[in-house]
Amino acid sequence: MSTRKHLVALFAVLALTQALAQTASAQQGYPARLDLGTAATPQDLAQFYSIPPDGRGLPPGKGSYAEGQKVYADSCAVCHGDKLQGIPATGIGGDRLIGGRGTLASEAPVKTIESYWPYATTVFDYVKRSMPLNAPGSLTDDQVYGVVAYILGEANIVPKNAARPAQGRA
Ligand code: HEC
Repeated sequence: MSTRKHLVALFAVLALTQALAQTASAQQGYPARLDLGTAATPQDLAQFYSIPPDGRGLPPGKGSYAEGQKVYADSCAVCHGDKLQGIPATGIGGDRLIGGRGTLASEAPVKTIESYWPYATTVFDYVKRSMPLNAPGSLTDDQVYGVVAYILGEANIVPKNAARPAQGRA
C-alpha cells in the first residue's frame, strides 16, 4: 500500500475510534465536551511572551552597567562567578558568561553570551524569564536591563558607559 493510502486508512480508523468513544461517553451520561478549567485572561497570557530581536514586547524600563554590577554581585555571582567565568565544578554552578570569542569553530568551543548569543533581547528575555535559577522572575525589569548592560559591558559588546543597550519601549 502507498504511504498515502496508509494515511487515509489511519485517519479513517481514528475517526471511527473517536465516533465510538463519543457514542460511549454519551451513553454513559457524560457531556460531549468536558467543562473543565477557566478561560485564560489576558493577564494569564501576559506571562507567556517572547522578545524578538526587534525589541517587540520589551517592557518599559532602563538600567545601567553600574546598577547591573550590583544586581550581578547580589544575585548572579554566587553561581556564575565574580568575574562571569562560571563555576562548573559545583554542579549547580552557572555557565561561563563571557569570553570564548573566535573559539566556536575550534576543537573546544567556549559558548558564552560574548561568543555566540546573537541578540541582546535574547539575553534580556532569558534572564527575565529564568534567572536567578533559584528565584526566576524575582528581578524587576530595571534590574534585568541593568544586569544585561553589565554582562554586555563585561563582554566588551557595548561600552561600559553606554549603559542602556536594551532600553524598553512602552
Ligand atoms: C543558583 C545558581 C544560579 C544563579 C543564582 C544564577 N544562575 Fe544563571 N544559570 C545557572 C545555571 C545552572 C545555568 C545553566 C542552565 C541551563 O543550561 O539550563 C544558568 C544559565 C544562565 C545563562 C545562559 C548561559 C548560556 O550561555 O547558556 C545566563 C545568561 C544566565 N544564567 C544569567 C544569569 C544572571 C544574569 C543571573 C543573576 C540575575 C543568574 N544567571 C543567576 C545558575 C544560576
